[in-house]
Amino acid sequence: MAEKIRGPRPPRQEVRDEAADIGVEARLAAGVLLNAALEGRGGLDAALSFREVAALPGPDRAFARAVAMAALRRLGEIDQILDRRLQKAPPLAVRTILRVALAQTLVLETPAFAAVSTAVKLAERDPKTRPYKNLVNAVLRGVDREGPGLTTAESNLPDWIAARWRATYGEATLAALALVARDEPATDLSMKPAVDPAAVAASVDGEALTGGTVRTGKRGDVAAWPGFEDGDWWVQDAAAAVPARLLAPKAGEIVADLCAAPGGKTLQLAASGAAVVALDRSETRLKRLRANLERTGLSAEIVAVPAEDWEDDRTFDAVLLDAPCTATGTFRRNPEVLRATKPADVAKLADVQHRLLDAAAERVKPGGRLVYCVCSMEREEGETQIIAFLRRNPAFKTAPVDPAALGAPAEALTPEGWLRILPSMWAEKGGLDGFFVARLDRVA
Ligand SMILES: C[S@@+](CC[C@H](N)C(=O)[O-])C[C@H]1O[C@@H](n2cnc3c(N)ncnc32)[C@H](O)[C@@H]1O
Repeated sequence: MAEKIRGPRPPRQEVRDEAADIGVEARLAAGVLLNAALEGRGGLDAALSFREVAALPGPDRAFARAVAMAALRRLGEIDQILDRRLQKAPPLAVRTILRVALAQTLVLETPAFAAVSTAVKLAERDPKTRPYKNLVNAVLRGVDREGPGLTTAESNLPDWIAARWRATYGEATLAALALVARDEPATDLSMKPAVDPAAVAASVDGEALTGGTVRTGKRGDVAAWPGFEDGDWWVQDAAAAVPARLLAPKAGEIVADLCAAPGGKTLQLAASGAAVVALDRSETRLKRLRANLERTGLSAEIVAVPAEDWEDDRTFDAVLLDAPCTATGTFRRNPEVLRATKPADVAKLADVQHRLLDAAAERVKPGGRLVYCVCSMEREEGETQIIAFLRRNPAFKTAPVDPAALGAPAEALTPEGWLRILPSMWAEKGGLDGFFVARLDRVA
């Protein structure tokens, strides 16, 4: 029997149980999803509507997605195992069949007979892969019989990302980040102020974290969980809930959320009782924000326009800028971001953030506050932006931050008074999304 690649979280029981009954088409779809994710930004989402994926019954589609995500999280390790057994590189279509099969046996604990027989059938189907049918069988049976051998978590990170994070955060943190990147994260819930986190935790078999987030290992369709229909809570990573808490909106204030969709932070702001203007350039993403407001019974004025072009004279007590970014901090939930992001994206997005920060600053009343955040690990999108912003805008000063009061790890506080939340923090609880957060107050 092959050993499982070790990780702190148990595999998905329902995926394991169903895998033996799921057929070749789902494995084909897993390969389509995997390759689309490797091709570039937005690839995985686009591939969900491809015929091979969309035509599958619901459970098969969920299985295909779970396999593709497992393969993306462990791609480096899977390739290490394969490369030890392959004398020369096979065509991509063959490697994909092998990757999909190993993601099943080594990560999702799919029974080997099911993963291997479907892989061989897939190879048989296509004239291009048919000559490799015996190779596929031999490699997979070999791994099953002899075990995968040693693998390194850091191999799952693209080289340029690993080099960047090593230079920025050091070797020990890089190793911790690579470990937390291997496993599917828990689901975090934020709730309305009137809803008791302990009651939500009990209803979803979860745990209330400091700050009020509930974390649960529960799986499946969140829309079927207790409290969803009533709009008591919404899905939001514990780290993503920190920026709106830091902005600290109050009833009677007017607040702008300048990159608002799909709206997790807008819901937090609206739940405070402040009057909220939620702006986003994407009408499509705002549809999800509208649905979220409707379900939770909260309200906000919605504006669909780029923040820089917004013709409106109002200024605000508080402004949140959750700027578009590389999103490299969300790799636990979206392992494809590490493959889709290219080095040039960092500088491109830093330019957008620079422009948006200046547009946001103009909206802050004297004496008001601005919170800037990005779910990126890259300094150019975080610390460097704020250093440059404070130079350009002497009317703004960094405001004191108390991580404990915000539900953020104490070690996230930087010497400058900002928060650099790393996914490897709170690792014993499964980690957090990576975020940079700064609060800048405008002098009265
Ligand atoms: C990080 S996401 C925001 C997530 C959101 N705050 C939440 O908590 O759910 C960034 C958003 O910025 C929007 N965006 C990008 N460029 C923009 C611009 N120039 N003006 C306004 N919104 C923009 C994108 O459409 C995207 O919805």
